[in-house]
Amino acid sequence: MPRKIILDCDPGHDDALAILAAYGSPAIELLAVTTVCGNQTVDLVTHNALVIGTVAGMRTVKFARGAESPLRREHKAAPDIHGDSGMDGPAPREADIQLDPRAATQLIVETVMTSDPGEITLVATAPLTNLALALRLEPAIAGRVAEVAIMGGAIGQGNMTASAEFNILVDPEAAKEVFEAAWPITMMGLEVSHQALATPDVRTRIRALGNDLGTFVDELLEFFEARYLEHQHFEAAPVHDLCPVVYLIDPTVFDLVRAPIAVETKGELTDGRTVVDLRLPAGLDCRHQVGTGLDHARFWDIVVESIAAIG
Ligand code: RIB
Ligand code: CA
Repeated sequence: MPRKIILDCDPGHDDALAILAAYGSPAIELLAVTTVCGNQTVDLVTHNALVIGTVAGMRTVKFARGAESPLRREHKAAPDIHGDSGMDGPAPREADIQLDPRAATQLIVETVMTSDPGEITLVATAPLTNLALALRLEPAIAGRVAEVAIMGGAIGQGNMTASAEFNILVDPEAAKEVFEAAWPITMMGLEVSHQALATPDVRTRIRALGNDLGTFVDELLEFFEARYLEHQHFEAAPVHDLCPVVYLIDPTVFDLVRAPIAVETKGELTDGRTVVDLRLPAGLDCRHQVGTGLDHARFWDIVVESIAAIG
């Protein structure tokens, strides 16, 4: 049975590939895409999500707009990596998919509460504001979702500061509430997402798709790769947000460690850090696990096959 998911995101070049891989994989039923301020404003990332849905013909997927700002902090976008539109690079495309009239948090809560316990999985590849607001709206969702799989955080070095990764640092208070809730969380942090590199052979396979979708993805990766080289000295783009999606398709692609994770919200130098406690084997009550490695060949086989399946 395919895993039913709601994907909360801030497209975003890597979010776009996560949406496409989820939509194309037979192992996943993508029920909805919800958006949140992150890489760019919520208006811009919502438009980008609708463009992605239009390019891929995602007529069965619901799209809902989410939080305009973090719980308490001022929103800071990431134009250096994603550009002023949040998805610079590809030629501008029209969106012809309509938004669901509900806000993202309402759609998340209604979908989870009207489904069977364990039927829905939440995936987040963006700041965790929507998930925190959904928990506040209906705390019972924590006991009903199968699991929460996120791209965010790090065991060690961050990417926005030495301590913090972008998705967590945009809204540490939301991340704290999400990690403290009583649901299972799989965290795909920078240690594993920096291994999800769109190397030249991967780029060649994407171009070989030979259709407009392949061209769209290649144009995304072209821009994303150039920005990562310029700003973080990567030779190939780390496509972070694919990690939680590929994990749900085939968890055996990853090395995973169970460990309690907490979020720093008050540190002068450590604000937004995900504190992963690896000192002892995790207790039976530990609800968290973190990715530490991935099989690069199998990872990209899954991604390319999923995108190719969209046609
Ligand atoms: O730190 C990487 C994360 O921040 C990714 O989700 C990327 O899309 C940005 O949101
Ligand atoms: Ca993202």
